[in-house]
Amino acid sequence: SRSINLAVIPGDGIGQEVVAEGLKVLSAVLPQDVKLETKEYDFGAKRYHATGETLTDADLAGLKQHDAILLGAIGDPSVPSGVLERGFLLKLRFAFDHHVNLRPSKLLPGVATPLAGQPEIDFVVVREGTEGPYTGNGGTIRKGTEHEVATEVSVNTAFGVERVVRDAFARAQARPRKKLTLVHKNNVLTFAGHLWTNVFNKVAAEYPEVETDYIHVDAATIYLVTQPERFDVIVTDNLFGDIITDLAAAVSGGIGVAASGNINPSGEFPSMFEPVHGSAPDIAGQGKADPTATVLSVSLLLRHLGYDTEAARIEDAVSADLAERGDKPARSTSEIGDALSVRVAG
Ligand code: IPM
Ligand code: MN
Repeated sequence: SRSINLAVIPGDGIGQEVVAEGLKVLSAVLPQDVKLETKEYDFGAKRYHATGETLTDADLAGLKQHDAILLGAIGDPSVPSGVLERGFLLKLRFAFDHHVNLRPSKLLPGVATPLAGQPEIDFVVVREGTEGPYTGNGGTIRKGTEHEVATEVSVNTAFGVERVVRDAFARAQARPRKKLTLVHKNNVLTFAGHLWTNVFNKVAAEYPEVETDYIHVDAATIYLVTQPERFDVIVTDNLFGDIITDLAAAVSGGIGVAASGNINPSGEFPSMFEPVHGSAPDIAGQGKADPTATVLSVSLLLRHLGYDTEAARIEDAVSADLAERGDKPARSTSEIGDALSVRVAG
């Protein structure tokens, strides 16, 4: 019989509340014969204050035993900026080789967008997850003087670029529109930009059915607002991907519905699924957070593990729930989770 052995990291702030609802919906959608086992991990601000630890080698060994990881949010104003980002989130993405950071954007009926009209938005960003300026490769000299120099080196390897570009082509090939856009800045970043462009063009030759396009990242921010319908799959580097996926979330329903997957496609390490939003300490513990982004992250998790039917049931339930929201009074975090659980089960 089938089973899912899930690591659960609620984390800080609203992470606790939204993860509870994500698990509720996951239990409701799984058929009887699938055994769900979960183990909760206490990473985040509280553990850091108590022990000084963010993510140890022993923690990584524990997490590695699971089929997948569900993460709520990590981050708290009581912890200096960068400590949990580098010490937990990026450490985990790098240690588990999450080189495909998958961030779909779909504007569902009835969902508010700041864009005029109700544009067609249905694209997915394949953000590289282990290279670029995120590797911590850099330094400072003459620190604190008026001649301080800081470098932050963007690392791009042919291996790293090719594997993420290949993943994006395969995803584009599998979608109805079969269109892939490379977003970079190759008019200025002539080293990394040329590596990305050359690899992209080389792999494109193997995918004659996929229509390809190239857009500089600055222009891409314009098109995401003025012509979001031109995008189907986007592939880009770690930092450009970070920035454009926040914009993508903003135009397609906001961070309340933006889901993501940090994927290790080979399955050597468990992949991690998390809402794009953070821990929102200002509304934590009040039942105000929308668990939809976490629920949609659970759907990405199920798709990754091969439970396509169940993943689709969650997407349909979320669509139906969002479509009816306009007429209803605001609901609490758990009321939304309950409503989605009823829909996926029925
Ligand atoms: C994200 C976040 C992270 C990133 C931070 C918290 C390290 O902004 O998941 O998009 O930059 O990747
Ligand atoms: Mn971000």
